[in-house]
Amino acid sequence: MNPTTQTDLGTPASPLDETVKVEIDGLPVTVKAGTTVMRAARESGVDVPKLCASDNMKPFGSCRLCVVEIEGMNGYPASCTTVVEEGMKISTQTDELARLRRNVMELYISDHPLDCLTCSANGDCELQDMAGAVGLREVRYGYDGANHLDAALDTSNPYFTFDPSKCIVCSRCVRACDEVQGTFALTIEGRGFESKVSASINESFLDSECVSCGACVQACPTATLIENTIVDHGQPDHSVKTTCAYCGVGCSFRADMKGAQVVRMTPDKDGGANHGHSCVKGRFAWGYATHKERVLSPLIRENINDPWRMATWDEAINYTANRFKEIQKEHGVKSIGGITSARCTNEETFIVMKLVRAGFGNNNVDTCARVCHSPTGYGLKQTLGTSAGTQLFDSVMDADVIMVIGANPTEGHPVFASQMKRRLREGAKLIVLDPRKIDLVRSPHIKADYHLPLLPGTNVPMINALAHVIIKEGLLAEDYIKERCDLESFEAWKKQILKPENSPEMVSEISGVPADDIRNAAILYGSAERSAIYYGLGVSEHSQGSTMVMGMANLAMATGNIGKTGVGVNPLRGQNNVQGSCDMGSFPHELPGYRPVQDDEVRGSFEKKWGVTIDPEPGFRIPNMFDAAIAGQFKGMYIQGEDFAQSDPNTQHVEEALSSMDCVVVQDLFLTETTKFAHVFLPGTSFLEKDGTFTNAERRINRVRPVMKPKQGKAEWQITQDLAKAMGYPMNYKNEAEIMDEIAEMTPTFTGVSFKKLDEVGSVQWPCNEKAPMGTPIMHIGGFVRGKGLFKETDYVPTKERTSRKFPLLLTTGRILTQYNVGTQTRRTANMTWYPEDLLEIHPYDAEMRGIKDGELVALASRKGETALKARITERVQPGVVYTTFHDPATGANVVTTEYSDWATNCPEYKVTAVQVAPAVHRSKWQHKFEKRAKEQGKILETS
Ligand code: SF4
Ligand code: SF4
Ligand code: SF4
Ligand code: FES
Repeated sequence: MNPTTQTDLGTPASPLDETVKVEIDGLPVTVKAGTTVMRAARESGVDVPKLCASDNMKPFGSCRLCVVEIEGMNGYPASCTTVVEEGMKISTQTDELARLRRNVMELYISDHPLDCLTCSANGDCELQDMAGAVGLREVRYGYDGANHLDAALDTSNPYFTFDPSKCIVCSRCVRACDEVQGTFALTIEGRGFESKVSASINESFLDSECVSCGACVQACPTATLIENTIVDHGQPDHSVKTTCAYCGVGCSFRADMKGAQVVRMTPDKDGGANHGHSCVKGRFAWGYATHKERVLSPLIRENINDPWRMATWDEAINYTANRFKEIQKEHGVKSIGGITSARCTNEETFIVMKLVRAGFGNNNVDTCARVCHSPTGYGLKQTLGTSAGTQLFDSVMDADVIMVIGANPTEGHPVFASQMKRRLREGAKLIVLDPRKIDLVRSPHIKADYHLPLLPGTNVPMINALAHVIIKEGLLAEDYIKERCDLESFEAWKKQILKPENSPEMVSEISGVPADDIRNAAILYGSAERSAIYYGLGVSEHSQGSTMVMGMANLAMATGNIGKTGVGVNPLRGQNNVQGSCDMGSFPHELPGYRPVQDDEVRGSFEKKWGVTIDPEPGFRIPNMFDAAIAGQFKGMYIQGEDFAQSDPNTQHVEEALSSMDCVVVQDLFLTETTKFAHVFLPGTSFLEKDGTFTNAERRINRVRPVMKPKQGKAEWQITQDLAKAMGYPMNYKNEAEIMDEIAEMTPTFTGVSFKKLDEVGSVQWPCNEKAPMGTPIMHIGGFVRGKGLFKETDYVPTKERTSRKFPLLLTTGRILTQYNVGTQTRRTANMTWYPEDLLEIHPYDAEMRGIKDGELVALASRKGETALKARITERVQPGVVYTTFHDPATGANVVTTEYSDWATNCPEYKVTAVQVAPAVHRSKWQHKFEKRAKEQGKILETS
């Protein structure tokens, strides 16, 4: 067995609590009732042979290799489908069993190429292991009969190969796709000898419904489905446990290594967020970490129009520090600031935050959560008392009703989506609030009970209408409210919600959703035992993002859906460590743990620890920094791993701000759109080089462990520490663990966190402190963190962005599974195979009215700007609404988005822009842009 192979107990754990006593091969064994004989044996250290069973899917009972003898039972039952009973006496090894198992193996091997020594799976093949385990020495049937040895390879998927000549038709791949991933892309076609695995209806893997999650590859016990990296580099010899660097699900992985080289990323079965599953990004799209376009030397230039020149670390750090000091001397202490990165570790983020507050002497620190989930932080803090989601992901398995609002989990949070779909297949009801028909609305074995396709910008009236129905229908959790909530605020909220303008009929007119659907969805949510809300940027990125977050919290409190399993208000956070970057005090008004910088006691504790005076006034938010830069008051910025020039709205404004500054310093892996405006480039590290922690959307603090030394010679925290020293504020951390120790010392929700504990227990969810030494999977049990739950009134204030005759359509934006954020990482991987450019989704009616054909280049214009991209005509969007992603710098979708933002947090209103779409008649105008992109893509694919 390969040393990186994870334990497989054959069948899933029993959910029951009672135990039974059995005897296995003469030894007494106690296991949970409901456990299979196979699992009972394996738990007690007896490895019954198996081929078709695996502990992440239901028993199947097809290979008959796992037969056992049971006293008093006729025949030879399959241990994977037989459940233990009190007093059962089981034999796993007898001469007859050995004979039967050898017969089974003989049949498999007689139709299998005997190329073990040259096979890529040699040393990590269950068929090979089982042949050894059953003592197969000869095959009587010969290899000259009918066989499948000439079956053609399918190499269409860029990451794995399908070699049907090696298939034993065990169905593990099919069941992994169905049960683990929930895509149902595979079937077994034909019968008997003709049976074969087929992707969709006899298509190649690439052309099929397959989303390349790799679950089937992981499940395959032979080399039939195998990672191309294993074919190319050979089997791993050891693993390092770490965490995915893409989305906020925070999947745990084992980096399977051959010497110093990563040859495979395998999701870790012990991972608290993913339980051994992954998506295409985490499992396969890690090649960017060693991509040849990575810049490994510091770069400097006096002027953004000059060419870059390479510099030593000392030179670049001293240059930056001197420039920042000069700027502060000339323009004041507040004329510079820093941005922490949601892709960096908690430790790296904390130290940038400390550099700004202690080294720069101001609070001009912010993070990319400003442009995504800052309303979540604000809204949940106001109502519940904590700026984070309420549940652990596993809680969804107890939900009776799941309401998904402004999120597209199958694209944005795929591993959690697979878990959610599992619960939906078990019978939970589904309500989707989204302008588009996202996959969850209808996909194999899933159908939303209600899809409310509301117009962009009408979330708040919709949540008010849902609450209106719940009150009118008598579905309030009166006792819960009385016991746990602030009654004065409840009464005020109730009065507001009962206003006629919040009735389903009135809201139907604004939102375009039939009143009956609103009413029925509200009744479904309000009458279930356990209803859970999951939401995304379709909630927060609005001018009333914070209002909507509070509206959802109100609804959950009013129905008693907070403080137990299966319920809650749960943000699906975008970037891997966006929760952590917020937790670490990256907002200008808050120190770590969301404590106000104005609070003398809190500030005083940091002043004492850090030996400095901290400005009691909150600093600039990102948009304030940009405005101040244009006004000539803000002159220098240290940007850790963000690409504002592509990711932030109203690109023209961002570019003007960046080019108004005297010293822009970018710390990143690659040259980006933002580095076009930078004076200093400090090379950063990929997740494979980092040591530290990421915190996922369920507040889970996971370890990130390095598998290689920093390729550019310095850990990112060391870069920041060196810069602090050069600025005149020495920090003296010796390693990342020491930074976490300081975070724990200074942050009440982290006092129980240390690398040592995480290495021992795997992960913990904050708060993790004296009261909860092993963390807090579910918040607000028995009472809200703020004391009484506070209802906030949520009057609807329409956005200032309006459609007009010139701009009659509403543009909304979102994500696609294979790309990530601004594409810096995924564009440097073979993920480009699936979605190489942004597309504009437009309804057939709107397309026809404009003479637009599918695949044609169209111009997309708003009051702010104009770009061009190809049209995709689809009924996923409703008439009057168009949709695109923002992964491609060539499209630069944010050229058209506006400056409007959330009233409380300045989170930009990405989700509502009035636009016009027309065939791009002046094609030449866009031609240079697309030619450049084609060239860049050619380069990227060639080098990935
Ligand atoms: S491809 Fe692999 S997992 Fe699927 S049926 Fe064949 S051997 Fe089993
Ligand atoms: S890679 Fe995932 S989606 Fe594709 S066939 Fe395999 S399990 Fe199904
Ligand atoms: S779901 Fe998110 S965290 Fe998990 S593997 Fe995919 S990108 Fe990584
Ligand atoms: S492992 Fe039990 S029948 Fe295949």
